[in-house]
Amino acid sequence: MVRLRVLPPKVVAHIAAGQVIDYPVSIVKELLENALDAHAHTIRLSLEEGGNSRIIMADDGVGMTKEELQLCAQAHTTSKLQSVEDLSDIRTYGFRGEGLASITHVSRMKISSRCWDDPIGWTIEKRGKIASEPTPSGMRPGTSISIDQLFEEIPARKKFLRAASTERKSILQLIHKYLLTMDDVGIQVYDGTKEIFSCPRNRSREERLGLLLGDDVAASAFFIETEVRGAHIVVYLAHPKHARKSMSYGYVIVNGRPVALPECTTTIKEAYGSLLEPRFYPEYAVFITADPRDVDCNIDPKKQRVQLLHQNEILRALQEAIIKAIRTPFSVTTDPGVVRDRSMDTYSAALAREDKVLWTPHTRKSKNKEVLQVFNTYLIYEENDRLFLFDQHAAHERILFDQIQDDYYNKHSQPILLEKPQLCELSARDIHEIEELLPLFRNIGFAIDIFNNSTLRVDAVPQWAKRRSLRTVLTACLDDILSSPIGHFTSDQQTHLTLSYVACRSAIKAGDLLSSKEREALLNKVLTLDHHYTCPHGRPLVIELTRTYFEKLFKRT
Ligand SMILES: Nc1ncnc2c1ncn2[C@@H]1O[C@H](COP(=O)(O)OP(=O)(O)OP(=O)(O)O)[C@@H](O)[C@H]1O
Ligand SMILES: [Mg+2]
Repeated sequence: MVRLRVLPPKVVAHIAAGQVIDYPVSIVKELLENALDAHAHTIRLSLEEGGNSRIIMADDGVGMTKEELQLCAQAHTTSKLQSVEDLSDIRTYGFRGEGLASITHVSRMKISSRCWDDPIGWTIEKRGKIASEPTPSGMRPGTSISIDQLFEEIPARKKFLRAASTERKSILQLIHKYLLTMDDVGIQVYDGTKEIFSCPRNRSREERLGLLLGDDVAASAFFIETEVRGAHIVVYLAHPKHARKSMSYGYVIVNGRPVALPECTTTIKEAYGSLLEPRFYPEYAVFITADPRDVDCNIDPKKQRVQLLHQNEILRALQEAIIKAIRTPFSVTTDPGVVRDRSMDTYSAALAREDKVLWTPHTRKSKNKEVLQVFNTYLIYEENDRLFLFDQHAAHERILFDQIQDDYYNKHSQPILLEKPQLCELSARDIHEIEELLPLFRNIGFAIDIFNNSTLRVDAVPQWAKRRSLRTVLTACLDDILSSPIGHFTSDQQTHLTLSYVACRSAIKAGDLLSSKEREALLNKVLTLDHHYTCPHGRPLVIELTRTYFEKLFKRT
């Protein structure tokens, strides 16, 4: 019995098409990229039922001749690529010659196109491999493609089509992403007869960013530019107060192509440091322009990811530039002076102002009021018609962190020479890792050397690390470095992480029962903090509830 057989071409085509086209949004993506590759200036997208019933994309790009029209929806047919060498120098969105063919395998397509030099255009209809003869079409130059009967012949797929509203939303999200790359292109999107989105031609990048993130977010965003390994990086970063709970508010554009690069979000989140709460993500747009030969676009059937030759260096440069620019977490200035431009200093000042709104330092007036502890974790304190709830661990951690940091940066950053060298036993793997990172460790004040493959020799430690277990401090540093998506931190970042680690380990824990004296002492110290309202890891430190809040709660107002 022969069980092994070659699949019929139609099944092969369906399988291949399924990898490119899953929902209407993937059809829109293919059509949009084709229109952009055809140098369109105006694009009109019309949907019916969020694209589930019909999608029509019309552009005023270069158009196709009658002969090209007959060829364009055949598999492996493209005007954008000719040789294997071209694959390593891709400058267009499309290059595989598969987009239109894949769509015709899962739907019915009608294409009309006219070149600018031709007096008339032509129309064909296609489904799978069957195409109609071209018929003349009176139309403006450009191309119009209409898709319907989506997944009609593939019931397994059709039943997974999502609600029209869901499709509409994901199509709009796609358009938004591409907006950042469409500087010279205007677009209108209709669902039925209703215009659901439009952006005119010749809108600046900042204006487009305003459309994407909201004007106020874009207006308070700040701008960084840097270069590394021939790659030019431009970043627009939103103020941390606009942080979102989803990672999807970060946009990465590589050589004009919107791509998914989650490492970029992680990198930026880490650069923001404790300005962001742990489960919040920054809003940003990053534009990377690199030599096309350093970018591999051919790594996924949907062309949503790319591989950058110098990705780690690019991300590291990005992170360094951001840290330098926002000067976090070390020197967020407390000068509330208002400057209206969007320079880095203004940004830092703005941060400080934001913090102040949330947490105004003040001296305690009603000293006779007792500080209560609940759940052995939170402190409660009342003043001026306000109730303050402190997280005892977070509060103490912030106090210690500020002290240790002040100690490290302002007073004595000279390492302490140990009376006699100490040997620190670590795993071979840790030693191996530390060996690669020796300059970084030395940079932050550790005079260390590899003694043998499981021991470190330590001659000096930074001030803040004295009297602490060497092993714990060193492995903590190492873990932080290795958990970074880019493998290395800058020494400033590393120092921040290490200091916050030390503060965290040394702080009062949640669950620790505090005496009334300890509660008083902690509260009095918290009140001297000037602008921080989060612990060094970004968790909130204090919650403030007003008397009005309680009155509303008990329906007294
Ligand atoms: N809107 C358009 N205007 C002008 N020509 C177009 C348009 N859409 C498609 N074409 C032509 O049809 C060809 C095939 O398009 P298709 O999308 O199938 O492949 P591709 O864009 O070359 O590569 P990919 O499969 O990666 O998208 C294109 O190379 C282009 O020459
Ligand atoms: Mg294409």
